[in-house]
Amino acid sequence: MSASPIFAGQPAAPLQAVFATRLIEWQRRHGRHDLPWQNTRDPYRIWLSEIMLQQTQVSTVIPYYGKFLARFPGVAALAAAPIDEVMALWAGLGYYSRARNLHRCAQAVVERHGGEFPAAPEQLADLPGIGRSTAAAIASFAFGARATILDGNVKRVLARVFGIEGFPGEKRVENAMWVLAERLMPDAQASSDDVSAYTQGLMDLGATLCVRGKPDCGRCPFEADCVARASGRQRELPAARPKKTVPTRHTWMLVLRDGARVLLERRPPSGIWGGLWSLPEAADEALLAERAHALGAAQGFARLASITHTFTHFKLEIESRCADLDSARQAGVVQACDGETAWVPLAQIDDYGVPAPVRKLLDALVGSLV
Ligand code: ADE
Repeated sequence: MSASPIFAGQPAAPLQAVFATRLIEWQRRHGRHDLPWQNTRDPYRIWLSEIMLQQTQVSTVIPYYGKFLARFPGVAALAAAPIDEVMALWAGLGYYSRARNLHRCAQAVVERHGGEFPAAPEQLADLPGIGRSTAAAIASFAFGARATILDGNVKRVLARVFGIEGFPGEKRVENAMWVLAERLMPDAQASSDDVSAYTQGLMDLGATLCVRGKPDCGRCPFEADCVARASGRQRELPAARPKKTVPTRHTWMLVLRDGARVLLERRPPSGIWGGLWSLPEAADEALLAERAHALGAAQGFARLASITHTFTHFKLEIESRCADLDSARQAGVVQACDGETAWVPLAQIDDYGVPAPVRKLLDALVGSLV
């Protein structure tokens, strides 16, 4: 396949020279200034926010951020906490490898750096869960470092303003974007406040005006220069991920009840929902019935909700059935679970790290009881 040109329009060299100053000015006047992780230079708070904000919207993150800080006010407290507690607080935010890396990163900061986050982006990027863009964001917000970010929002802004063709997840396109993003940075004399305002400005523009669905071009500081605006291609840039049909997997889950308690089973540490608490599963209804029997369930299944959950690489269709524990049979039954199990009162599910779709099933169960 021959490589097609990356720039759709003129590379807009004159704009490159004024891009940073104009963006900083716009951020100061129209950007966001009161998010819970702003107005601080505390690297711990900034790091925590940046990890939570990966692939997750501000409004979703805010309550989790508050809960985490209340429970773990500093990196040492987080490093010392049991992973289960971290997973339980993270439950519902998704992309759970972030939570495991968050914990590992806190421990690495304590062990390798004496409890202080390093200031250099290269050292930050060496820590678990911190990629190049996140390292730059932390270095810029916490230490005023002149470091370049390039997250999904920034890619969208650059693709539109500078007319960059191709799917930004493609290496060739991403590399071109990194080169451009480096060139656009404020100059070496910029103050650390300017650098932070610039980084925040890129994020704010992507999140508030240059949004995916319907960008608000009339209020954009780059309206007059934007290649996408000039050619009416805002919907086409950035190019979408090339279509690949994602496979669908199926699973059956068992809600085994003992009064107001349900049986949870901990998932293996790697793979989807690694280390989280979930429901016993089987590949089809007959196998689920066998498992239910082995676990001491009384005869008979009740149909519960069906849920489809979309992961990045596949869809998961979950069928669920509910059964009651037969207390007379319970004692003689071999534990038919591979991992750790727990009988958890429905009212205490929040203390366990339970994936969002499983939580939905359990909520459906509670709903069906009232
Ligand atoms: N997305 C990623 N980092 C962010 C930040 N610091 N503020 C708002 N949205 C963000």
